[in-house]
Amino acid sequence: MRFDMTRKPFVIANWKMNANTQANQAWMDEARVQLTGSALACDVAVCAPFVYLPQLCEGFSHSAALVGAQNCASYSHGAYTGEVSAAMLADIGCDMVIVGHSERRTLFGETDAIVAEKVRLAYENGVMPILCVGETLQEREEGRTIEVVAAQLKAVLDTVGVAPLLRGALAYEPVWAIGTGKSATAEDAQSVHAALRQVLAQYDEEGAQAVRILYGGSVKPANAAELFAQQDIDGALVGGASLKAQEFLAICHCADAAV
Ligand code: PGA
Repeated sequence: MRFDMTRKPFVIANWKMNANTQANQAWMDEARVQLTGSALACDVAVCAPFVYLPQLCEGFSHSAALVGAQNCASYSHGAYTGEVSAAMLADIGCDMVIVGHSERRTLFGETDAIVAEKVRLAYENGVMPILCVGETLQEREEGRTIEVVAAQLKAVLDTVGVAPLLRGALAYEPVWAIGTGKSATAEDAQSVHAALRQVLAQYDEEGAQAVRILYGGSVKPANAAELFAQQDIDGALVGGASLKAQEFLAICHCADAAV
């Protein structure tokens, strides 16, 4: 048994900007039986674009699957045209939110300070934050991986502490591995996860052992088992391979098998 149940494995689908009403319904119809009751030993969540969250909340209402957003505002409420607040996510029954995904950091200019605010607001509103950190290829080649991800994590911990991540999770997603088909090796990922847990321990020694650290970046059924066999890899954030229900469920089964 790899996982003690202080860190129940967690597998999260990130559909990104890929979805429509019909496809979502088909995905849920295909997955519902396996996501119902105690069919899986891992925690499972699906993160969809905002407009489809009510559809997912309704569709998964009798299943164990959690429903998540992929972003939230860094302000609580007010004149911020086009933004969606953490309180609104809570209001419609959304369980969690991905914060600081590298696509948000690089394409939409999210800084560490903005990311920290989003984590704080999610937590205060009872929405589980899934905080993403990760280095670019250049940073990796310069040997700066640990320095970069530790700085991203510390920027949040300095503001909000470890508690929000105990409720949600931390995700290590090397930018060069996202959507490229190039996954980090299980050993490389493990060494970054262990370093991140050490950073958490500087803030909360006991809590650090209970925070789930997920790996993301080209996770698929073929590499999931090896990743989940690592001591500090507690699940996955899955992009491309989550678009097909069966592929995503195969990854969930790998997490189950590691329990
Ligand atoms: P990928 O995306 O699985 O398509 O690499 C992962 C992510 O960005 O969360």
